[in-house]
Amino acid sequence: MAEYGMILTETQGKVAVIRLNRPAALNALCDQLMDELGQALRGFDADPGIAAIVLTGSEKAFAAGADIKEMQARSYPAVYLDDFIGKRWEAVTHVQKPVIAAVAGYALGGGCELAMMCDIIIAGENARFGQPEINLGIIPGAGGTQRLTRAIGKSKAMEMILTGRMMDAEEAERANLVARIVPTEQVVAEAVKLGERIAALSGPAVAVAKEAVNRAFESTLSEGVRFERRVFQALFATEDQKEGMAAFAAKRKPAFRNR
Ligand code: CAA
Repeated sequence: MAEYGMILTETQGKVAVIRLNRPAALNALCDQLMDELGQALRGFDADPGIAAIVLTGSEKAFAAGADIKEMQARSYPAVYLDDFIGKRWEAVTHVQKPVIAAVAGYALGGGCELAMMCDIIIAGENARFGQPEINLGIIPGAGGTQRLTRAIGKSKAMEMILTGRMMDAEEAERANLVARIVPTEQVVAEAVKLGERIAALSGPAVAVAKEAVNRAFESTLSEGVRFERRVFQALFATEDQKEGMAAFAAKRKPAFRNR
C-alpha cells in the first residue's frame, strides 16, 4: 500500500478507510494533504477488492478547513493559474464508489465542504459543522455556498455562511446535513459497518444508484427521472438483477457477482 505523510489508509474487508492525519494543524487541508487524498481515492476507486470508502479525521477534527497559513500570501494570478481548489479538491466528487464521511469534531470551511462532497455523512456526537470563511474576509470556495444551501435550505445556509456560526451534530441532523448521529468514539466503526452493508450488494447497482441520486442535483426533475428510468432499465442487462430477483423468489440470500 502507498506511503503517505498526511493521511493514513487501511482496508477492512471490502471497505477502505482514509484518515486525515495532520493533528498539529487540526487536519488543515494543505496542497500536500489534498494531493495525497486524491491519490488514495483514485487508488481505492480503481481497486476491484474495494466497494466503499470511509473518509475520516481525528476525534477532535475531521478538518478545520483549507490551510489558512498556506493560503495567506497567495495572489490572485497564482490561485487562478493554479486552479486553486478545482485542481486538487474535486477528486472526491469523481469517485464512482460510495464515499462515507465519518465526522467527529470540527468540520469547518473546506472541512465541511469536503464532508459535503462525500455521499453520506455520519456524525459523531461532538461534530461541529460551519463555514467560517467570512471571518477571514473570504467566502467558501470548495462548493459550500452551493452544497450547504442544497442540503439545509437557503435561510439556514445564509445564516451560517454570512455569520460563520457553527452547527452541532443535533442541529445538523435536524437540518438533514447528516444521515445520523452516533457516539463519537464509534463514528468510524459505524461508517465501516455501513460500507460493509453496501459492499454486500451489487456493485453496478450501487454505482448506478449513486449516479442517479447525484443527478437530482444536476438536472431538472423530468431529466432526472428520464435518466433514472434509463439506468433502471439498463440494470436488467446485469447478472446481478437476475440473481437478486431469483434469490428473492427462492427465499435465499443473493450472491451478487458485480456483473
Ligand atoms: N489552517 C491552518 N492552521 C490551522 C487551521 C487552518 N484552517 N485550523 C487550525 N489550525 C492550526 C492552528 O493555527 C493551531 O496551530 P499552532 O498550534 O501552530 O498555533 C493548531 O491548528 C490548533 O488550532 P487552535 O489552537 O486554533 O485550536 P482550538 O481548539 O483553540 O480551535 C478551531 C479550534 C476553532 C477549529 C480553530 O483552530 C479555528 O478557528 N480554525 C480555523 C477554522 C477556519 O477558519 N476554517 C476555514 C478556513 S478557509 C477555507 O476553508 C476556504 C475554503 O472554503 C476552501
